[in-house]
Amino acid sequence: GVDNEALLRAEIRRLFTWLKDKGVTAIITGEKGVNSLTRYGLEEYISDCVVLLDFRVIDQIATRRLRIVKYRGSSHGTNEYPFLIDENGISVIPITSLTLDYKASTEVISTGIQRLDTFFTKNGIYKGSTTLVTGSAGTSKTILAAHFAASSCSRNEKVLYFSFEESQDQLIRNMATVGIDLDTHVKSGMLSIHASRPSLQGLEMHLLVLLRLIRTWKPETVVIDPISSLITIGKKSEVRAMLIRLIDVLKLDGINALFTSLTSTSGEGFKNDTVEAVSSLADTWIELGNKRKDFDRKRSLTIVKSRGMGHYNSPIEFTITENGIVFEKLNYKRLVGFTET
Ligand SMILES: Nc1ncnc2c1ncn2[C@@H]1O[C@H](COP(=O)(O)OP(=O)(O)OP(=O)(O)O)[C@@H](O)[C@H]1O
Ligand SMILES: [Mg+2]
Repeated sequence: GVDNEALLRAEIRRLFTWLKDKGVTAIITGEKGVNSLTRYGLEEYISDCVVLLDFRVIDQIATRRLRIVKYRGSSHGTNEYPFLIDENGISVIPITSLTLDYKASTEVISTGIQRLDTFFTKNGIYKGSTTLVTGSAGTSKTILAAHFAASSCSRNEKVLYFSFEESQDQLIRNMATVGIDLDTHVKSGMLSIHASRPSLQGLEMHLLVLLRLIRTWKPETVVIDPISSLITIGKKSEVRAMLIRLIDVLKLDGINALFTSLTSTSGEGFKNDTVEAVSSLADTWIELGNKRKDFDRKRSLTIVKSRGMGHYNSPIEFTITENGIVFEKLNYKRLVGFTET
């Protein structure tokens, strides 16, 4: 209750000075003023560090954001960063690291399909690398992802599986029909499936939830199926920034990652925002197709790229059986040390 504003300002200043004299680390909250960050426009000047919190709605999705306005004697991130409040308090999305200094493993892991491994000169993909699987609807992206997840579980490596299109039950049932037993892995605690509708939360909220689970559950492998449904809820530049942050965290922690992405057209033409954003960030890119051939449809898989190793370059035909993805017995040479075929 001080009515006189001049007196109040003087008192606020006196309080701040007193705290500083006492050498106390003080956190002071203040309400936003009309034309200034704080009600009296003074607090922000006499503080050493000012953190601005904001809660606003963009495209019908509410996001909390945080910005460090100033911090005397220290450099700091200057952008607005989204944050999340939950039972563990506040968590902020990590800032993209400016340096590229994560460790690169020379260890190789299986794609989950032994025959497919042989199409890479190292007989698999690098541990801790990021793989993108693209294809139009029904081209077996999920089956490939499930193979990958199951093989990680069999190596006793924990898998976090984000399913944005199928519920846990549906995923387990569907994969069981192609001989991939996810149920056992869920029961043994090696596999954790998180199924949700991506549109329920903003892009950043998703990233935060994802990162928190990665941090708390510490999986060796992360699958996002499909990453394209996350992408429908943000602008292209935001999506790319988010993916970079996500891949940064995965790389720093040496996590094997597999993302699937739905492409709109079958066959050629990767004119798709997600694919464009992820394909350059991914280490390995596998394109799946289901092309018409006379009266038949032929499923095929093409390894588009795999950083740091050679690979078979042409489409490889496969079928889906009760044992999952099976490559037809064609005369593919054992492919060692090749670059092109
Ligand atoms: N038990 C089975 N035997 C043979 N083929 C199967 C079997 N189960 C699924 N398929 C085939 O696999 C396809 C689905 O594979 P999958 O779910 O991996 O595709 P997807 O690329 O993830 O599709 P979406 O884009 O819809 O998510 C089915 O459309 C079907 O053609
Ligand atoms: Mg799928």
